[in-house]
Amino acid sequence: MRSVKVPLGHRSYTIKIGAGLLPSLGPECARLKLGARCAIITDTNVGRKFAKPAFDSLVRAGFEPSLIVVPAGETAKSLRSVQTCYDQLASHRLERKSFIVALGGGVVGDLAGFVAATYLRAVAFVQVPTTLLAQVDSSVGGKVGVNLKAGKNLVGAFHQPQFVLCDLDTLRTLPERELRAGLAEIIKYGIISDAALFAKLERELPKLLARDPKTLAAVVARCCEIKAEVVGQDETEGGLRAILNFGHTIGHALEAISSYGKYLHGEAIAIGQVAAAELSRDVLGFPVSDAERIQTLLERAGLPTRVKINSRQQTKLFAAMKLDKKVSGGEIKFVLAERIGKVVWGQKVPAALIARQINSQIPTTSKRGAAGSTPK
Ligand code: NAD
Ligand code: GLY
Repeated sequence: MRSVKVPLGHRSYTIKIGAGLLPSLGPECARLKLGARCAIITDTNVGRKFAKPAFDSLVRAGFEPSLIVVPAGETAKSLRSVQTCYDQLASHRLERKSFIVALGGGVVGDLAGFVAATYLRAVAFVQVPTTLLAQVDSSVGGKVGVNLKAGKNLVGAFHQPQFVLCDLDTLRTLPERELRAGLAEIIKYGIISDAALFAKLERELPKLLARDPKTLAAVVARCCEIKAEVVGQDETEGGLRAILNFGHTIGHALEAISSYGKYLHGEAIAIGQVAAAELSRDVLGFPVSDAERIQTLLERAGLPTRVKINSRQQTKLFAAMKLDKKVSGGEIKFVLAERIGKVVWGQKVPAALIARQINSQIPTTSKRGAAGSTPK
């Protein structure tokens, strides 16, 4: 088992990464010295597979858990689901010393974390991420929240978990498309801060796609180390933490204009990362060969890098980008790359350049048809 510490003073916590960790959920929670009453929030898919071992482990450790199951998928990251969870917590009579277990992918983690941040003015929570994306990214760092129709993650809070338990065995049942979506965030870590990781991914991608346990353990741990280091320096995104959003400005907007149904988060940010790499080339002189390496690696991971949208959707995309949390003074700010392994945040990009990028990378559907791959 590997451990990574998120250094946040008295709110520091540990990410445990390894196979067969789920049965240790109860004993890990017992160390927190919290109340007996707790709730597991999960979704329909994850609940079917992993709610019983999680529930039984808590019961064996002396807890009285209740189970809250939300529908699977991004649309569950909504205020409506928050309300459902509050009602069930109230009927289970959760108290201030109670805690919540987020058992699932990033959707469940963000939703359950937001519920924990706000119910009774905050109760403790723990993250048990079961997707690759959640294990390397969303379960770490305390960003929790839900979407509005107008945009991704527009309602939220910073609420750090007590610990994160990444059981790599849970990834065995993850659908192929979800595994690939997780790879988009992993590739992001190479771009934003670790050229050696990026090169390793270029070499070892087939092993990751084959879910080789050793490779997965090493890569998940390295990504968690990078995220822990960034969050440790800038918990509430005063500056540095923004680098974690490489590719997210266009990616989030794409998710919003497609009503959170068409693209998985990882797919949308794969497209966004290629756009950000090409903008970096135009604005900062990021090498063309590096932009090509990024696109090639994402494509080898089976991710979309270009999509077709019509001009009406392009207008909507711009509007959605302006609602992004990274907008300041009405200006859209980008994270751009200087080279693989080094990015800078808060970059202003002229509107005309963004428009050109959207036109070239996300070509308008024309009568004769446009270039680009069909979105998944
Ligand atoms: P997800 O939570 O929707 O999970 C993907 C799908 O896989 C779901 O259908 C789920 O039911 C299923 N699933 C989960 N684990 C499984 C398993 N082990 N076996 C079989 N099926 C399983 O999606 P995700 O990609 O994990 O998370 C995406 C969300 O994370 C987005 O909302 C994104 O905004 C958010 N996110 C948050 C942060 C953060 O810092 N808070 C960072 C990155 C992404
Ligand atoms: N995934 C972006 C962040 O945690 O800041």
